[in-house]
Amino acid sequence: MNKFVIFASVFGVLVAASAVLGAPAPQVDAGPRSSAQDVQTVRYYSENNGLDGYKFTYELSDGQIRSEVGTYKDSKDADGNDVKVLFVQGSYSFVGPDGQTYWVNYTADENGYHPKVGTGPTGGIQAGQDAPINSA
Ligand SMILES: *[C@@H]1O[C@H](CO)[C@@H](O)[C@H](O)[C@H]1NC(C)=O
Repeated sequence: MNKFVIFASVFGVLVAASAVLGAPAPQVDAGPRSSAQDVQTVRYYSENNGLDGYKFTYELSDGQIRSEVGTYKDSKDADGNDVKVLFVQGSYSFVGPDGQTYWVNYTADENGYHPKVGTGPTGGIQAGQDAPINSA
């Protein structure tokens, strides 16, 4: 009787284990852009200097590049008081689903966001480059 109980228990565990091991692996459905799973970080840099500003750059293996620098500059508020404002200069580019490279260079300050937009492999930020964009 004891041998049967032990046999039944071991058999039960084996059946359960083979059911788990034999089950198909869970599938992650990433949708039509599933190649995004294979994207690697090619370059990454980030520095935060508090009130002296920040900068970061990253490049991904799918061609995305982004670089931005933020610094504080002196300005006046609406009442003429001295204030510090964040001045941001950045660039990003990526390859769209159509294979085209899209790029944006921008600045942002107390007067708003100022983008410069273009397409094509030249004109925007290139691999290995960092913001700021001195031509902006
Ligand atoms: C855009 O920014 C990159 C560097 O970030 C610069 O090399 C390029 O000249 C800029 N393009 C324009 C049109 O200002």
